Amino acid sequence: MVEEEVTIENLPGVGPATAEKLRDAGFDDILAIAVASPRELADAAEIGESTAAKIIIAARKMADVGDFETGDVIFERRSRLGHLTTGSKSLDQLLGGGLETQAITEFFGEFGSGKTQIAHQLCVNVQLPEEKGGLDGHAFYIDTENTFRPERITQMAKAMGLDPKETLKKIHVARAFNSSHQMLLVEKVKELSKEVPAKLLIVDSLTAHFRAEYVGRGALADRQQKLNKHMHDLLRWSDLNDGVVCVTNQVSAKPDALFGDPTRPIGGHIVGHTATFRVYLRKSRGDKRIARLIDSPHLPEGEVVFSITKEGIRD
Ligand SMILES: Nc1ncnc2c1ncn2[C@@H]1O[C@H](COP(=O)(O)OP(=O)(O)O)[C@@H](O)[C@H]1O
Ligand SMILES: [Mg+2]
Repeated sequence: MVEEEVTIENLPGVGPATAEKLRDAGFDDILAIAVASPRELADAAEIGESTAAKIIIAARKMADVGDFETGDVIFERRSRLGHLTTGSKSLDQLLGGGLETQAITEFFGEFGSGKTQIAHQLCVNVQLPEEKGGLDGHAFYIDTENTFRPERITQMAKAMGLDPKETLKKIHVARAFNSSHQMLLVEKVKELSKEVPAKLLIVDSLTAHFRAEYVGRGALADRQQKLNKHMHDLLRWSDLNDGVVCVTNQVSAKPDALFGDPTRPIGGHIVGHTATFRVYLRKSRGDKRIARLIDSPHLPEGEVVFSITKEGIRD
């Protein structure tokens, strides 16, 4: 609510000229400034870094960052953990019965390894009743690479015996044009989740914009800080809605000097430590794909094979 009423001119130290420069650089609301780094803001508005830091502190105080709740409320919610099927029994088993609610599951792998296909399948499956592995809810899809395809949803929905049109109506898609926009869209999803039974939030791809925008060694700390904030926003949404968050992350198939170990994807330890489940996907023969669970706190590491068929994700 606060963000809608308060404009960036309400921040101490932000006059009309500074406000205009900030808006031009994409800092168009309190929250965008609250999550900025002093250097970014200083560059954008052509002000000193210490002034920028003061503006950021003020913005953080004004931004609506949510409420505290007591432990018994959290306990009650955690006791209701749900699971969402992928469509493949073996992939579900690898994850301990499907994608867990109140957690972030990350799929990473090279181009064509099936990340977007899994994301589409989950958007369909989340609408199934609980006894069929669904969560009886709506899906939100933050699409950063313009790869959401309603035609593919239609194919998958038909294969599940669902009405394609009704299925598409319960999938809410937004394109994210840059990393700041991507982060703000999570705020939007939070608002919209009060109006529909939101049970799935996809970010496909989590890292593409960040990787493109924060280039070079000097930008690494800023990128990690933003990604960290983004991941925590996602985790908080999953807690509040008892929902599943699924993010994708593209890595190079060939370990080389530039990318290093393929099981160490972009975003490094920040994404790794916030994601509750991380699954590394590899191409195999034909429509077969290999999934490996990495660094799980309470599930054994293992590998399973699944397929991407016309009907969707299957064993
Ligand atoms: N309608 C379809 N029927 C069967 N397989 C498909 C279909 N659409 C896509 N695929 C498979 O999915 C692969 C693309 O996977 P995708 O999830 O887009 O990869 P990424 O990991 O890059 O997101 C294609 O190479 C193809 O093998
Ligand atoms: Mg993709």
